[in-house]
Amino acid sequence: MNKITKCIFPSAGYGTRLLPITKTIPKEMLLVHTKPLIQYGVEEAIEAGCDIMGIITNKNKTVIEDYFDNNLDVENVIQNSSNKNILDDLNDIINNNQFIYTRQLEIKGLGNAIYCAKPLVGNEAFAVILSDDLCINKNNGVLSQMMEVYEKYPNHCIVAVEKIAPEKSNQYGIISGENIQDNLIRVNDMVEKPEEKDALSDLAIVGRYILTPDIFDILENMKKGKGGEIQITDALLELAKKGNVLAVNFDGKRFDCGKIDGLMEANKYFM
Ligand code: G1P
Repeated sequence: MNKITKCIFPSAGYGTRLLPITKTIPKEMLLVHTKPLIQYGVEEAIEAGCDIMGIITNKNKTVIEDYFDNNLDVENVIQNSSNKNILDDLNDIINNNQFIYTRQLEIKGLGNAIYCAKPLVGNEAFAVILSDDLCINKNNGVLSQMMEVYEKYPNHCIVAVEKIAPEKSNQYGIISGENIQDNLIRVNDMVEKPEEKDALSDLAIVGRYILTPDIFDILENMKKGKGGEIQITDALLELAKKGNVLAVNFDGKRFDCGKIDGLMEANKYFM
């Protein structure tokens, strides 16, 4: 089994729930405590063993590229100041990992954003992090927990799930399945953002995926689903029907930083 080294960050959304700030600042760059949101995701991917970050952007997201790059002007300014080490952690990330960018040309859904990573990923399993789901777990991050499952169940796709209040079903992909061990479920059905009455369970997909490369063939032919967009949930359902999708009910805490309440809650948590 090949080790997973690539993590994809779909980052081409408009962040409309966070307007007006997202009119000019990508939501991935919004501040949580001391760092932009996407850096938490990148750190989680590195902790899980990835060293190639594939970021799916659009024309308004170039500041993400600049962030994960040198800025010699700033380095010179801080060189002899009390802040001289303030960029060390970020520079470690930049120097020890590779960042690759590709643009999603049209907003066609998460499934399409992930499909844009096909040339970068090739024929390997890979990870996906939606950075607006900020996940915290000391010592063993959520993606690391999923990697441990993948090692035991290679050739399976893995999704992270958590229990949600039933009235929130229409905000998430919802799964059902059979427990195969504590906190590990073999998924047999999944639906994107069902109404509460149609929800399969109270287990919602959180923005962490490990995907096998056969997902690209499925995505290539996928019809539009919920919201007129190509949904990764619909593509995964095809693999779930073959028994090849597992869900990890992870240890840790998640903040929905795609919304102002979640972003504020995450900031409070770190204070
Ligand atoms: C996406 C997925 C959804 C998942 C969610 C997690 O939705 O389509 O299945 O539950 O991420 O955050 P989005 O929040 O991008 O609309």
